[in-house]
Amino acid sequence: MTSLLPPLDRIPPTIAALADYEPLARARLHDNAWAYLTGGAADGVTLQANRNAFDALKLVPRVLADIRGGNTAIELLGLRLPHPVLLAPVAFQKLFHANGEAATAMAAGATGTLMVASTQASVSLEEIAAAGQGSPQWFQLYMQPERAATKALVERAEAANYRAIVVTVDAPVSGIRNAEQRVGFCLPPGVSAVNLGNFLNMRSQAVADAHPVFDIAMAAAPVWDDIAWLIAQTKLPVVLKGILSPDDGRKAQAVGAAAIIVSNHGGRTLDTQVPAIEALPGIAAALDGKLPILLDSGVRRGTDVLKALALGAQAVLIGRPYIMGLAAAGPLGVAHVIRLLTDELAIAMALMGIRTLDQVGPHLLFASAPRN
Ligand code: FNR
Ligand code: LAC
Repeated sequence: MTSLLPPLDRIPPTIAALADYEPLARARLHDNAWAYLTGGAADGVTLQANRNAFDALKLVPRVLADIRGGNTAIELLGLRLPHPVLLAPVAFQKLFHANGEAATAMAAGATGTLMVASTQASVSLEEIAAAGQGSPQWFQLYMQPERAATKALVERAEAANYRAIVVTVDAPVSGIRNAEQRVGFCLPPGVSAVNLGNFLNMRSQAVADAHPVFDIAMAAAPVWDDIAWLIAQTKLPVVLKGILSPDDGRKAQAVGAAAIIVSNHGGRTLDTQVPAIEALPGIAAALDGKLPILLDSGVRRGTDVLKALALGAQAVLIGRPYIMGLAAAGPLGVAHVIRLLTDELAIAMALMGIRTLDQVGPHLLFASAPRN
């Protein structure tokens, strides 16, 4: 492979917004990693719709409000956090930086940001925890075909002091990843799902005449009863990631989930599915405050964070933007991405006349029949 530029060791003063990291990251990644990072499923309709849906929402500022002493803090599942922006689970981060998830954890720890570590991390979950320097982290779980393997992962996460288990429920099979297919995506030597070890290959055991989707992948995929089983196995709160329907939101609550993440996996699974931000109001109405709701997929601006909170989320996660920062400038880049977004959030709050995030609600958004 041709050699690429090394990560920057300082942030250029011309970096003004999250999008400015994209060309810096592109110059430091091979086509392989770039396709994996930026691709959406199939035609990328949902990937683009996630952005269009945020842009279509219009804010209505309130002026002359006294917001001295305000802040961006929130409380979430027993944690007090300085801001509502979390780092979404992103697999195989050694594709993007030599230290992978350890570099991300360092930046998250330094900024007090809650990081969600992926089951498919390229660094062990114990090393990710150590790199976070005691700052809270959650563990994202892909349930494994064998319950013993799932339980072993959960026990390791508990022992390493992760504070919640985030079960991703929207990707039991890989989506139609045409962008990856077109570059012949593969994991380079030295990058693998190290936390899965020997369990990894169970899923692909071939059976004569078996259908690859219905008989192999989906035979191993979890169903609601498996979530109930998981909740009974751990004292940690269990969060379900990848909910888009009010009915599934109600089922999550009924089964005992501690929170849900409204997400379409950043447009990487089923193309043409609904943007998460458009699904959010219906789910928030169905849950009626009974469970905390988080949202990801398309968050790129402080105003996006405010819009998600206005429609019923308590917090948001970002995926690709912090990985762009990681590829461009390692932990410094991740920390700067978080800083840009949370600075934008504070300015949006000030211009909207909001002192603390508990004052946020649907009244912030323009509706053709004015609400107030
Ligand atoms: C992801 N995502 C993801 N989700 C998950 O639950 N486990 C995982 O291992 C991964 N891996 C992963 C890799 C890459 C390269 C990307 C871009 C995304 C999905 C991720 O957690 C999140 O839902 C989306 O990235 C949010 O959308 P945005 O912010 O990227 O638009
Ligand atoms: C992805 C899987 C790992 O989005 O969740 O690539």
